[in-house]
Amino acid sequence: GKAVLAFSGGLDTSVVIKYLQEKHNLDVVTVTVDVGQEDNLKKISAKAKSLGVLKHYNIDARQEFVDSFIFPAIKANALYQKKYCLATALARPLIAQKVVEVARKENASALAHGCTGKGNDQVRFDVTYRSGSNLPIIAPIRDLNLTRNVELEYAKRHNISIDTTAKRFSIDQNLWGRAIEGGDMEDSFSEPPDDAFIWVKTKNLPDKPQYIEIKFENGIPVAVDGKRLHPIELIKYINKKAGASGVGIVDHIEDRVVGIKSREVYETPGATCIIEAHTDLEKMVLTKHELKFKSMVDSEWSWLAYSGLWQDPLKNDLDMFINATQKRVSGTVKLKMFKGSLRVVGRKSEYSLYSHDLATYGAGSTFDQTLGKGFVELWGLQSTEANKLLKKR
Ligand code: ARG
Ligand code: SIN
Repeated sequence: GKAVLAFSGGLDTSVVIKYLQEKHNLDVVTVTVDVGQEDNLKKISAKAKSLGVLKHYNIDARQEFVDSFIFPAIKANALYQKKYCLATALARPLIAQKVVEVARKENASALAHGCTGKGNDQVRFDVTYRSGSNLPIIAPIRDLNLTRNVELEYAKRHNISIDTTAKRFSIDQNLWGRAIEGGDMEDSFSEPPDDAFIWVKTKNLPDKPQYIEIKFENGIPVAVDGKRLHPIELIKYINKKAGASGVGIVDHIEDRVVGIKSREVYETPGATCIIEAHTDLEKMVLTKHELKFKSMVDSEWSWLAYSGLWQDPLKNDLDMFINATQKRVSGTVKLKMFKGSLRVVGRKSEYSLYSHDLATYGAGSTFDQTLGKGFVELWGLQSTEANKLLKKR
């Protein structure tokens, strides 16, 4: 029989190829999905072939990744535990879907992945595989409880080549962000070494502030610094520009689905800027009632996406609400970046609910201040009464 494996070219999935061949006696078909990780796909396919796979697929899913995963995440201001932009979490269901499609085409007898049993990725892969297929799932790293050192040993014995960063960290990257795990990072009190970062500059940062203007239409970024760009180019542009100003490093303690707390470090300059800007723009155009409710919806959305429940009908229900709110989320936000800091310094929109005439403390105000007195009396009525009663006791 044949097993179809999501293959990144890294340590885990290379080890898995050999295990599937040797222990399960299966032919292996590998699938590498391009979600903007900017790996050398030719090299990856050559590596798969050198490991004796029957067939290798490269699938360019960047457009689908942007349209069906990143855009909904932007509209939902998606930050898991207020920090993590879900780069890996968003890509997994898409990669797994592509594997299922190849398995159908190849008439495969099993689906495989290289996730550990300690992480979130196993959940995302398994749930998506199960949603699209009944084939058995083989996950050798998890099934055999393999640790990194055992894998490195195994790789050596089987002449699997390993690059130097793989020896220090476990990296996962795509258009939306770069996750750096393991190695020195596992000490929660030790600062990540500068050379762990590739997208974000940490030294010799520019002495002049840099500005980015992001224009949104219906909740989606369409132009940056006055230029309309294809979304893939737009995200790349911001990744580069914000990264050069030292913006976009996230370092936090994260609750994994399986209950483990882990120290996670990310480089997400584009996502950080776009979500900061989008959140700010919403505050200008949505009513306070919409904002209050939407922040709950957003955090539920992020939780579902994080925890591998991308296919749950609830996510679709939330998307419908979120999309309805985005009809007025059009406008431009100006961001200022300086030596790693990021700040919104301006915003404008044709749907703005901000009215200078109402808000100004200066001359020309159209707001009748005398209305304030009666309003405040009614607003605080119950609180005042309750406190009077408490004092009587
Ligand atoms: N903790 C993040 C998540 O669950 C990042 C995982 C990164 N994966 C990796 N194989 N390095 O989405
Ligand atoms: C893994 O365990 O395979 C990667 C890390 C994660 O899923 O969180």
